[in-house]
Amino acid sequence: MQSKQITIIDHPVVARDMTILRNKNTRTAEFRMAMGRIATILAYFALKDLPLRQIEIETPITNASGFEIDTNIFIIPILRAGLSLVNPLLEFLPDAGVGHLGMYRDETTHEPVDYYSNIPKGISEGIVLLVDPMLATGGSADDAIKFLKDRGAKQIRFISLISAPEGLKRITQKYPDVSIITAAVDEQLNDDAYIVPGLGDAGDRYFGTN
Ligand code: PRP
Ligand code: URA
Repeated sequence: MQSKQITIIDHPVVARDMTILRNKNTRTAEFRMAMGRIATILAYFALKDLPLRQIEIETPITNASGFEIDTNIFIIPILRAGLSLVNPLLEFLPDAGVGHLGMYRDETTHEPVDYYSNIPKGISEGIVLLVDPMLATGGSADDAIKFLKDRGAKQIRFISLISAPEGLKRITQKYPDVSIITAAVDEQLNDDAYIVPGLGDAGDRYFGTN
């Protein structure tokens, strides 16, 4: 499954924390901590090829060359569950613009229903990090990517915690220019379009509404 377009994180901390997230007996506080730690590792991999520009600085001792990140970056969570990935990314990118895309899956059709959007200006000029912990059918990510492309986004990276093969196939086939960084690829979807084995409803478990 690993390809130029898809990065699947292989890391012992991710393996340990993914088990905490999948366990139905994990309490909300522990769930949030594990989610935050995996999000930090996902951020590290999603940002590892950011462009840099060289700058000159003065240390207390002498002149030296250093680097600044040479692009604008925008973080766009798909509400609600995507909010869980925003703060770990902001730790690395304190200047990033943050937009919001509100959508939920209709329980019967499993199709996304849009209810809110607020996107910062300038997304056509920078890198857009679209974040959502679950890529299931891919319907939500597909809608979100189309929305962002219609508004000029040219460089989109989709960051997810758990992906289903169905969602990966849909997004890679439709958007070969969108890179995907994920911490796990699971087996399949069940009849309710939940990821198997998955972790259940990510938003409900993160926000304690289950
Ligand atoms: C979840 C998840 C994704 C979507 C993935 O959201 O956070 O947005 O489902 O499924 P898909 O790939 O089949 O579209 P949900 O509808 O549970 O909303 P929530 O984040 O508000 O809980
Ligand atoms: N959304 C979730 O939160 N979990 C799934 O398994 C599928 C979609």
